[in-house]
Amino acid sequence: MAKAKTRYICQTCGYVSPQMLGRCPNCGAWNQMVEEIERPVNTKATPSRTSVSHSQPMKLNAVQFDEQQRHQTGISELDRVLGGGVVPGSLVLIGGDPGIGKSTLLLQVSGQLAQTGGKVLYVSGEESASQIKLRANRLQITADNLYLYPETDMSAIRDAIAEQKPNYLVIDSVQTMNEPELASAIGSVAQIREVTAELMNIAKQQGVSVFVVGHVTKGGAIAGPKILEHMVDTVLYFEGDLHHNYRILRSVKNRFGSTNEIGMFEMNNDGLREVTNPSEIFLEERLAQATGSAVVVSMEGTRPILVEIQSLISPTLYGNAKRTTTGLDHNRVSVIMAVLEKRANILLQNQDAYLKATGGVRLNEPAIDLAMAMAIVSSYKDQGLAPDECFVGEIGLTGEIRRVNLIEQRIKEAAKLGFQKIYVPANNDIDVHDFPEIQIVGVKTIGKTIKQVF
Ligand code: TYD
Ligand code: MG
Repeated sequence: MAKAKTRYICQTCGYVSPQMLGRCPNCGAWNQMVEEIERPVNTKATPSRTSVSHSQPMKLNAVQFDEQQRHQTGISELDRVLGGGVVPGSLVLIGGDPGIGKSTLLLQVSGQLAQTGGKVLYVSGEESASQIKLRANRLQITADNLYLYPETDMSAIRDAIAEQKPNYLVIDSVQTMNEPELASAIGSVAQIREVTAELMNIAKQQGVSVFVVGHVTKGGAIAGPKILEHMVDTVLYFEGDLHHNYRILRSVKNRFGSTNEIGMFEMNNDGLREVTNPSEIFLEERLAQATGSAVVVSMEGTRPILVEIQSLISPTLYGNAKRTTTGLDHNRVSVIMAVLEKRANILLQNQDAYLKATGGVRLNEPAIDLAMAMAIVSSYKDQGLAPDECFVGEIGLTGEIRRVNLIEQRIKEAAKLGFQKIYVPANNDIDVHDFPEIQIVGVKTIGKTIKQVF
């Protein structure tokens, strides 16, 4: 095949040049020229303009789609994050730090999908077939319909897809794939963009569900300038702490479901295991009588989870008071401390504060305010809270406790885990008769709540 012509396009102004230039002669921007394949313009009849036999405007009501079309992966934590299963012809990008477990997850998913009738083509540019086999043995994957293909050349991969006609395609990873028509180096922006566009094409035209692994670069974005996120259907981040076994799969973009869903896994010797009740893990190591510890019911997408918030308040020895947070928003903590000072007369300006959400989660919804305040006051007063009570509520600047969403689900989850008492905003208007198994205390202001609790 004749080598396709390529050109360089300025990402800022769209200026086109046949050569690579450091600085765009049109807008003056530096390092913005990215290589692209020049698609020949068909001068006869441009098919996309004239022959529209395969796509016509149609009535919304006439479009057929039923939820059954989604395929369950057999891993329910992943299905939840995807919005109920894999949509045929969709492209899912799974990003994460190297070594977090992306290949492990996708190999397990491939094994499951292949077992339930689909044909899976697992393309790896990072490991050889025998290395993948070794891993598959450890993960006890025996599916017959799983094909391995250690390859990085996109034209070979294209041919393999045309020949094998898989239902599912896994590309591990996008950064190792090479579009031979481009002169740019493997892993460069031009390559990654071309490869992703190509995979998107394959997904849409052939109805193949594609999973693409993308390594996160130092800056935190997938493949640098977030170039892939807008191109694909779904973006999932696999995160967690390399020092802990827990991994969280988080959806940040989903054309076929809600975002902010999380799935939890535990990395073991035999691969990733689903964690179906994360609350138990987050509360597992909690000390019963510790001071500075309060439990909150926080929503992660549609799922309530109970998390312990810890705080340590100690007098500042010199200089300005320090505020340090892990898994919580720094500014929010400062606001709550200011409110406690002004509205509840708790003198915190000469105290250092350290706050932490345990279990490696990040909490950033307003409903955690009340639990943060209680953890702070508990440490300040050196008085522990009852181990079977928890808190939900947003705190306003005048010290009022504000309504939160999805309160019924939060209360149910607390009751399910054996909590006896939950403090909720009085404005939420809960009918206590709906929840006989837990005592519900409606609270109005932070000052009164502190008097009630301590
Ligand atoms: P991997 O899936 O290769 O990460 P990624 O593709 O995101 O770079 O996961 C690698 C880590 O997972 C490695 O440090 C070893 C660990 N691991 C286990 O603990 N148990 C297992 O069964 C497997 C396969 C991996
Ligand atoms: Mg890998």
